[in-house]
Amino acid sequence: MKKVVLAYSGGLDTSCCIQWLKDKGFDVVCFSANLGSEFSPQDLKRRASKSGASKIYVKDLRKEFAYDYILPWLKVGALYEGKYVLSTSLGRPLIAKHLVDVAKKEKAGFVAHGCTGKGNDQVRFEATTAILAPHIKTIAPLREWELTSREEEIEYCKRHGIPIKTTKKKVYSIDKNIWGVSVEGGCLEDLKNEPPENSYYFVKPLAKIKDKAVYVEIEFNKGVPVKLNGKAIDFNSIIDKLNAVGAENGIGRTDCIEDRVVGIKSREIYEAPAAWILYTAHKELEAVTLDRETLFFKEIVAQKYSHLVYQGLWFTKLKESLDAFIEDTQKNVSGNVTLKLYKGNIILAKRSSMNSLYKKELSTYGEGDKFDRTLAEGFIKLWAMPHQR
Ligand code: ARG
Repeated sequence: MKKVVLAYSGGLDTSCCIQWLKDKGFDVVCFSANLGSEFSPQDLKRRASKSGASKIYVKDLRKEFAYDYILPWLKVGALYEGKYVLSTSLGRPLIAKHLVDVAKKEKAGFVAHGCTGKGNDQVRFEATTAILAPHIKTIAPLREWELTSREEEIEYCKRHGIPIKTTKKKVYSIDKNIWGVSVEGGCLEDLKNEPPENSYYFVKPLAKIKDKAVYVEIEFNKGVPVKLNGKAIDFNSIIDKLNAVGAENGIGRTDCIEDRVVGIKSREIYEAPAAWILYTAHKELEAVTLDRETLFFKEIVAQKYSHLVYQGLWFTKLKESLDAFIEDTQKNVSGNVTLKLYKGNIILAKRSSMNSLYKKELSTYGEGDKFDRTLAEGFIKLWAMPHQR
């Protein structure tokens, strides 16, 4: 019997996938990864087997996600189109890598996913599989089957006795992990609509936030966040705590029009308080610890890096080479940044570093000025010389 390993979320789409694949003659093994969504291994196991899977693997990948995917991203600071912290995008290669590992272990010739035929995630899953295990074929039931609406899928489940969680009308499509929440669909598809109250997933709406600033201090060691408010805790805990305090203060919501890999412009609302707080703190620390040319070049790298992540090219030679360059730039990125969170704003309060390149004796307009201003005149003449008309 042909065997397929399905990336299974427990949702409606992937539940239908199990039955559909079985009808095509496959032995279906499920794989579920926990990257920080609502997740109950017991529930997943029960539902997968009730839906007809012969076996299910469940893995908690939150640590690996934080240290091997989010952290490299943070060191680069790679926003996609200037606004997206790539929370969904970063998780896909990790899930796909483990999906392939399970397929190899199970000696399965196929993997399957529940992504639609017009999004980015199909590209990320399939490109990763094609790169890491070219001999394994991917099946994308949603691109093939004739179920065209949520109602039809629910009907299909009922017909086959597949347990479904809710028959309520779903307002949005939501993807969630520890790095952020992506919300799309419904009334958000009309650009004239301001995001309504019910599109807020966990960030508090500004109108409900009290008039009080909260300070957070983050300590970095070589680009890695190591302490929060003076306490040494692991990176996952830093993310969780910053998500909580950030959400409470209305931080980290962005309304984006983004260019999907397949050429479609789409609108997505993102909530990523911890990501934005850490991104801001890290950038501010780099501003005092890196020289002008490195800062400039890092920006170029970040642009390319954001495209590699967004476009499903995580496991590529170029991404690895860029990581090596970025790692080298982080040697001096150590120190502390204090940010003030206030009604949806991240405001820089303080920064300090033992590697600071800021020299008050050079920048001061007050006492103790050591800058030799007699050099400026000659410098400017030579600076402008090549451009004389
Ligand atoms: N547009 C985002 C990306 O491509 C998120 C995709 C999933 N979004 C969702 N609401 N299910 O990375």
